Amino acid sequence: MKRILITGGAGFIGSHVVRRFVKNYPDYQIINLDKLTYAGNLLNLTDVEGGSNYEFIKGDIVDAAFITELFTTYQFDAVVHLAAESHVDRSIASPMEFVMTNVIGTVNLLNAARENWKGDYSKKRFYHVSTDEVYGALGESGMFTEATAYDPHSPYSASKASSDHFVRAYHDTYGLDVVISNCSNNYGSHHFPEKLIPLAINNIKNNKAVPVYGKGENVRDWLWVEDHARAIDVIFHQAKAGETYNIGGHNEWKNIDLIKLLCKLMDQKLGREEGASAQLITYVTDRAGHDLRYAIDSSKLQQQLGWVPSLQFEEGLAKTIDWYLENEQWLDDVTSSNYQSYYETQYAER
Ligand code: NAD
Ligand code: TYD
Repeated sequence: MKRILITGGAGFIGSHVVRRFVKNYPDYQIINLDKLTYAGNLLNLTDVEGGSNYEFIKGDIVDAAFITELFTTYQFDAVVHLAAESHVDRSIASPMEFVMTNVIGTVNLLNAARENWKGDYSKKRFYHVSTDEVYGALGESGMFTEATAYDPHSPYSASKASSDHFVRAYHDTYGLDVVISNCSNNYGSHHFPEKLIPLAINNIKNNKAVPVYGKGENVRDWLWVEDHARAIDVIFHQAKAGETYNIGGHNEWKNIDLIKLLCKLMDQKLGREEGASAQLITYVTDRAGHDLRYAIDSSKLQQQLGWVPSLQFEEGLAKTIDWYLENEQWLDDVTSSNYQSYYETQYAER
């Protein structure tokens, strides 16, 4: 029996990873540790709740004593670490929360793993889930590879870059068995509607303005979240200790083109006249330090471990829209109270 700690499992990507591991590996004991911040929601995991190989623990990775005790009690064999503050706009508004969770929280987990595993890493693994944003911004051409130098610009990406460095330092200094993956922008079900795609779907549905930062010319490389969860599964099981893999969809879109496509698909799904939803597009003040372009070269992962993205973007977007339209209660729940007031304030200030 392998006892695996998954952190941040109640969030967007984490819930897909938890679901995959619980369902595909009945011999593993999956322990999901999550603080349940505004972004964490147990409604994301109703289909695995009650499973004999699944347990949820509410807790904060910033609390070092609690994390140490948790490792002592559970004697984990591996960690898949996803817990993080993840939204760039929030990191601009309050960077310290990002330092605490993303940097201090990660170091707390590394310390607990190191102390608990006592130098015997033969059957242990610390998997750190990170982002392509650590590499900074690209111009019109080129792609991020695993050899690209780190050059983060936002407080979010700076905190993730810092945590990546700590994970590597624990490998180089103490020999801890670590792997890191840096993934491009994800989309799919259970995505909190402060990020571009679910926010646009929610706003179009409710006939609210769809904010486009700056001229909408920034480019992101979108990947279906279940393809990311599958990549994590493959890397977790097959990568050599100390390795890094980039994960991406080879699927670059200018924000404005993506939003126009979403508007077109939403018109069709909602039976609106063609062009009706596009009227909601509203250009707003640009994000400070807005990275122009991200694009991932995932050939190392494809060639070494045989992973390839499975879903075409239009098909994935259509599935994503269907999920949001079929799960209105989920949207209403996660957009109530705290989140709603935060969003209204931020948007009003733009
Ligand atoms: P998310 O914001 O949807 O979920 C984060 C989860 O972490 C939430 O469930 C939250 O409650 C939990 N959490 C936050 N602070 C915590 C703390 N102090 N202690 C315990 N739990 C805490 O984020 P996501 O989009 O699912 O991202 C997951 C991971 O993947 C992050 O590390 C992120 O940097 C990385 N990533 C995300 C993307 C993307 O497109 N969303 C792309 C590449 C990498
Ligand atoms: P986001 O989903 O926040 O992801 P990230 O900043 O991590 O890439 O934003 C994706 C892109 O969309 C980014 O270029 C910022 C832009 N954006 C908008 O134009 N309007 C919005 O309301 C949001 C949330 C993002």
